[in-house]
Amino acid sequence: MDQKRVLLIIGGGIAAYKAPELVRQLKAQGLATRCLLTAAAEQFVSPLSLASVSGDKVYENLFDLTDEAEMGHIQLSRDADMILVAPATADLIAKMAQGLANDLASTALLATDKPVMIAPAMNVRMWEHAATQRNLAQLAEDGIGIIGPDEGDMACGEFGLGRMSEPAEIAQAAKAMLAQTPARDTPLTAAKPLAGRKILVTAGPTYEPIDPVRYIANRSSGKQGYALAEALAALGANVHLVSGPTALNDPKNVTTKRVETARQMLDACTACLPVDAAIMAAAVADWRPAEAQEAKIKKTKSGLDDLKLVENPDILATLSGHASQRPQLVVGFAAETNDIENYAREKLARKKCDWIVANDVSQNSGIAGGVMGGDDNQVHILSTTQTLQWETMSKTAVAAKLAAHIADYFAATKEHE
Ligand code: C5P
Repeated sequence: MDQKRVLLIIGGGIAAYKAPELVRQLKAQGLATRCLLTAAAEQFVSPLSLASVSGDKVYENLFDLTDEAEMGHIQLSRDADMILVAPATADLIAKMAQGLANDLASTALLATDKPVMIAPAMNVRMWEHAATQRNLAQLAEDGIGIIGPDEGDMACGEFGLGRMSEPAEIAQAAKAMLAQTPARDTPLTAAKPLAGRKILVTAGPTYEPIDPVRYIANRSSGKQGYALAEALAALGANVHLVSGPTALNDPKNVTTKRVETARQMLDACTACLPVDAAIMAAAVADWRPAEAQEAKIKKTKSGLDDLKLVENPDILATLSGHASQRPQLVVGFAAETNDIENYAREKLARKKCDWIVANDVSQNSGIAGGVMGGDDNQVHILSTTQTLQWETMSKTAVAAKLAAHIADYFAATKEHE
């Protein structure tokens, strides 16, 4: 009775061939799926195979009068707990951004008051096109979840961003989105559980100058923090991201401030207070040269022998211990290579934060490409009262799940207010 239902809209791209596998993965997450094919999608995947994996009728054409009589397009979207669009082609994304409704897929999307998530898939040039990016920004602003696309080889022979995320990841992200959605038939505004909350996120490394050309840094890419900032914004939070130097674009619907050093990061964070929550995902350099030299240090025999290091301020501990403006929820990250849980628990106590998100950054963590800089992550969430261990998933999926966990926390504290 309680099984949540997904209306899967399959767009007309080569990635549509993965739709039956996606239905299987949704089933593995305990979700029931009803499929709706656009006219172009029928060229890539057979309705019959979708009917057999989903165990349900497959919907195809707006003007099928029998269906309209039996099950109108409004009912089709009302019957689902969420709509998942995968693959979301550039054309479907453009229609959604414009609010067009000229076929069954776009009509169902316009008629819904349930959460919607899209998994884009297209050629890299189409993905990068200003029109597509403009449309995506609009969808993000409308509160639509976006998973992927991933980078890789494409059917068209090019390489780049545009591959649809793997079905297992999409299914996990859909499950996470549903986990934070309100009970059936509650209004759409309730799908923004963090509306009215101001959340500070730090991300990326810091650069600590040695001289005008050299600096101390680390391998943090910023991906996890950026994904989290975007996921929190998608849940309605007013997100302020303070980022060290990264190669990433500013996340959507987030106020981003770029800094270089730990001290600048601390200043930018304190300038942001008060906030409801502070999520410190940055890999702040622990040490900095006591004095940055104004001229480039020459490569002499004594080299950097004179390089003296001093400790950087601990931003997390500073916010946790803030006398007048401590955020209600302070979350730290811990990158460990061994004995993760013990170190994380010790860090929780020492930094006086509320949760630690711990991950294994050792080379043998089993995650392709490693955690630092890679696309996947496996985390434990520790608080003084519980430890959660989540399976390996993409950083986007970790972000969606963590954002939902934060929304649950605020929903629970609100009940006690
Ligand atoms: O002590 P360690 O660097 O392992 O702690 C990691 C956590 O502390 C992360 O949340 C990181 O953002 C935060 N941190 C900080 N300022 C520092 C060092 C770490 O905010 N100077």
